[in-house]
Amino acid sequence: MFDNIPLAPADPLLDLKKAVDSDSSPHKVNLGIGIYQNDEGQIHEPYCAKEKLSFEDPGHNYTASTGIDEYLVHAAELVFGPNSETLASQRVASVQTIAGTGAIHLGALFLRKVATTPGQKVYVGTPTWGNHEPLFKLVATHLEKYNYYDRDERGVDLRSCLAAIRAAPEKSIFIFQVCCHNPTGADFSSPQWQLIADEMKKRNHVPMFDFAYQGLGSGENEDAYPIRLFAAQGFEMLVCQSFSKNFGLYSERVGILHVVTRSRKAAQCTLSQLQRLIRAEFSSSPAYGARLVNTILKDQMLRQTWVAELDLMRSRLQHNRLRLYESFQVLEMLCRPGHVPAKFNGRGCMIRVNVRTDKRLWKQLDEVKRKAREQLKYLEQYALDYQRSMSGIFAEQPVDGTIVITSPVLSNSRVPREC
Ligand SMILES: Cc1ncc(COP(=O)(O)O)c(C=O)c1O
Repeated sequence: MFDNIPLAPADPLLDLKKAVDSDSSPHKVNLGIGIYQNDEGQIHEPYCAKEKLSFEDPGHNYTASTGIDEYLVHAAELVFGPNSETLASQRVASVQTIAGTGAIHLGALFLRKVATTPGQKVYVGTPTWGNHEPLFKLVATHLEKYNYYDRDERGVDLRSCLAAIRAAPEKSIFIFQVCCHNPTGADFSSPQWQLIADEMKKRNHVPMFDFAYQGLGSGENEDAYPIRLFAAQGFEMLVCQSFSKNFGLYSERVGILHVVTRSRKAAQCTLSQLQRLIRAEFSSSPAYGARLVNTILKDQMLRQTWVAELDLMRSRLQHNRLRLYESFQVLEMLCRPGHVPAKFNGRGCMIRVNVRTDKRLWKQLDEVKRKAREQLKYLEQYALDYQRSMSGIFAEQPVDGTIVITSPVLSNSRVPREC
């Protein structure tokens, strides 16, 4: 039965992770999966919440298939805002998912099996996160594409997005990344979101928001702007919320799918359908990460600490990104003349370099680092900064000859152990 199964195509990102993990060099450059590391290369740990939770000891019984209620309530408030009419009117069906990826999967499955009719189209601007297309393909949904990034303007291609919205058949689904766009780092501005909302409304389209970086762009409330805007305008929509990056809970797989409906009754029916899909797919979600998030969000002190940590992460990211950019300028090794980083946000920036593949880029960055250490050793602090700025860079799909370098996340934001 299994003799003729062909080898699945390699996933360059996972291969790269394996290679980075097995490399013992202290100077290695991680161009793989996007995690935030501090100056010591460590991932953020929510020590206080862990201690609190361990003291409470909630045990290991199954949780409800739709998830831990209190966690869902606090997380929904983080997305829609504390005074949200959408939440107050109970028009949102929220269910726990296996992180952001699981939220997108469940959302795609729900659209396919329950909410859309055959022929209803789903659109995404490209380039986009490498898993969007596979996730929709898995549920037999084809993605229509439009151009997301304007290489000359080094920013979003609003014209192409609006043209796609106008040309799409009524009630199409549009996938949008809310902030810190992966992989370009280019986000729509508030006025651009307003324009998009106006056009979407005219065609009765439904947005599906992928919210994987709340707080890492401009702030936890500022980043939620597009969702709150669309919610205030009465859109039906889906929101895929992830706590992997902003809480550093990558392996705990903590996420939520919110479906905003037009009535309380529609939300109840939607919830029952989501519950049915979850029951048949994974029955219920892992509890530990969700409990940690809940512990932090419901405690005023822990929440304030988390917000302060996010602020630190953001400013460190921006600092690192600038250093990276300057380093390239100083070394003039990889740059095309006139390379300019795209507008900064919490996650990424695009830098044009003369290489075509991740592997070559990886090798060349390593070389640059070595050279940098030689060339800049007389400028010790600079060299140190330089090294930090490189310690977590990761690259994703090449965009038309341009390698996308997105700098890493978090750190020096550890919660002190004695809390
Ligand atoms: C744009 C985007 N969406 C969703 C995800 C999924 O995040 P997770 O499944 O780890 O929560 C990622 C992860 O890198 C991402 O970049």
